[in-house]
Amino acid sequence: MKNEALFTLLGATGILLFAGGGLVLAPYMQLSDTPPSPGLEPYSQEEAEGRALYVSLGCMYCHSQQPRDPSQAPDGERGWGRPSVPGDYVYDYPHQLGTMRTGPDLFNVGKRLASEDWHLIHLYQPRAVVEGSIMPSYPFLFEHVPEPSEGDRIVAVPEEWLAKPGTVIATQDALKLTAYLLTLDHDDPVLEASDEAR
Ligand code: HEC
Repeated sequence: MKNEALFTLLGATGILLFAGGGLVLAPYMQLSDTPPSPGLEPYSQEEAEGRALYVSLGCMYCHSQQPRDPSQAPDGERGWGRPSVPGDYVYDYPHQLGTMRTGPDLFNVGKRLASEDWHLIHLYQPRAVVEGSIMPSYPFLFEHVPEPSEGDRIVAVPEEWLAKPGTVIATQDALKLTAYLLTLDHDDPVLEASDEAR
C-alpha cells in the first residue's frame, strides 16, 4: 500500500515536470534571447503608462494584437499588416495577444490610423467617427470645461455626440493611451519564420 502511494506521487510529479518542461521551460529557452524586430523601439515612459491603461481597461477582451499568417486567416487582406513574429513582442509584458476579435486586430493600428485626433474622438465616443460602432465609449478619460485654459488638449467632438455641455479636454490618461496606440506599427519587413527554418 505504501509503495502504491509513493509510485502515484512519483508518477504524478514526473508528469507535472514533463508537462512544465515542454510547455513552459522549452519555449522560454527557445525564445528568451530573441532580438527585437527591425525598427522596434522600447516604449517611452508615456507610452508604457498608456500601455498599462490599455491592459487595465481590458481592451484585449475585444482586440487581438497578432496578425496571422495567410494560411490561417486573411489578416493581410483585412489591412492588419504582416504576420507577427516573436521579435515584435520583445518589449511587451504582460502580452496582449488576445483571442477575441470583436473589433479589428490593433497590432498595426498606429500605422493605419496615425491621427491623434481620430483616436481621441474615437475613445470619447466611437460612434462619432464610426457609424454604428459597438465599441464602448470611455468618457471618463476626458473632462468637460466651460472655457478651455492654455495648454488644454481640446478634442473636437461633434456637438451631437457631447455627453455633457462644454468643451471636451483630453486627460493625461487619454493622451498616454493614444500615444501607446500610435506606437502600434509593426509593419517593417522581417525574415519570415519559414525562411529561418530553411
Ligand atoms: C466590447 C468590445 C470592445 C472593447 C472592450 C474595445 N473595443 Fe475597440 N473596437 C471595437 C469594435 C467593434 C471596433 C470596430 C468599430 C470602431 O472602429 O469603432 C473597435 C475599433 C477600435 C479601433 C479602430 C480600429 C480600426 O482599425 O479601425 C481602435 C483604435 C480601438 N478600437 C481601440 C480600443 C481601445 C484602446 C480599447 C480599450 C480602451 C478598446 N478599443 C476596447 C470593440 C471594442
